[in-house]
Amino acid sequence: MNLTLKVWRQKNAQHKGRLVTYTATDIHEHMSFLEMLDVVNEDLIKKGDDPIHFDHDCREGICGACSLVIDGVPHGKEHATTTCQLHMRHFKDGDTIYIEPFRARAFPVIKDLVVDRTAFDRIMAAGGFISINAGGAPDGNAIPIPKPDADKAMDAAACIGCGACVAACKNASAMLFVAAKVSQFAYLPQGRVEREKRVRAMVAQTDIEGFGGCTNQYECEAVCPKEISVSMIAKMNREFFRAATTTK
Ligand code: SF4
Ligand code: FES
Repeated sequence: MNLTLKVWRQKNAQHKGRLVTYTATDIHEHMSFLEMLDVVNEDLIKKGDDPIHFDHDCREGICGACSLVIDGVPHGKEHATTTCQLHMRHFKDGDTIYIEPFRARAFPVIKDLVVDRTAFDRIMAAGGFISINAGGAPDGNAIPIPKPDADKAMDAAACIGCGACVAACKNASAMLFVAAKVSQFAYLPQGRVEREKRVRAMVAQTDIEGFGGCTNQYECEAVCPKEISVSMIAKMNREFFRAATTTK
């Protein structure tokens, strides 16, 4: 298939960006969206032009690097799909596709479609871990964990830190990401020891990074490639309230 691409090109955070039109020709329906961009870039490189810069790593829906807004939707319109797992069979010959970077004050553009998402790393560094020395691996089932709690912790742990929730939110809120990371530990006994300290520190860092507040728009849940539920936000709010009313 042949496509018209309107791609955001921006030299760096200081320069103004703009949409530039490219054609993508002979694109196979089984190619991924990133493979389609690879084809376009090969053409640009052959012509001596600057290739389109975009972020990617695993290309398997695991790392969360492939942060593109496709036709106005972070990761595109396919439900629960990362950009790298989006296939060109979901587009038609002759389509025009708009490709832009995630837009949020806390995610400044580095170049073209690549944004700086290290704000997420700093939120994790503030408290998204268990600091105790847990020693060697314990025997299986040494700590009994109710199945519903284990399931919820696993659901929260599915967050790949892609930032699509931020890009979809009109407030650029990082609440779904932070809630997933807080909940992942809060549901398990190993994580509960530091629960107050963790939620306070992660929420404080989120504010420092300049993310907006949550006003229950649910856009985050709609675009999340890992189907993280907004119920995690309710869990995080309960954790935060608990921490605020605890003297520890
Ligand atoms: S909550 Fe979903 S959209 Fe947000 S960072 Fe995690 S995986 Fe990405
Ligand atoms: S490149 Fe790793 S999730 Fe898309």
